[in-house]
Amino acid sequence: MAKWITVIPADELKPGMHTLVELNHVDLLLVNIAGDFYAIENLCSHDGGDLSGGEIDGAEITCPRHGARFDLTTGAVLSAPAFENIPAYPVRVVDNMVQIFDQGTIAE
Ligand code: FES
Repeated sequence: MAKWITVIPADELKPGMHTLVELNHVDLLLVNIAGDFYAIENLCSHDGGDLSGGEIDGAEITCPRHGARFDLTTGAVLSAPAFENIPAYPVRVVDNMVQIFDQGTIAE
């Protein structure tokens, strides 16, 4: 059954910061952009690069391997050499705790 998973206290991830969390055996990049939280898979759609080491500029992240850029709020690809979007996960804050929607269990 699909469900919200609590991952981290909201005040531990200040605006401009990011961290890695594992959800249902998937590594996610959780970011705080100006007080709003977003999560995308931490896997570049070009060649599997680790996005967590990439440069973040506003709501955009640049893959450290070959420079593809993605929108952190949606996972949308913004520039080559990647051409496929990255899955984005719904995020909410409840009682100061960041929760991510576990989409991996929707089919159960
Ligand atoms: S692996 Fe990310 S741009 Fe190539």
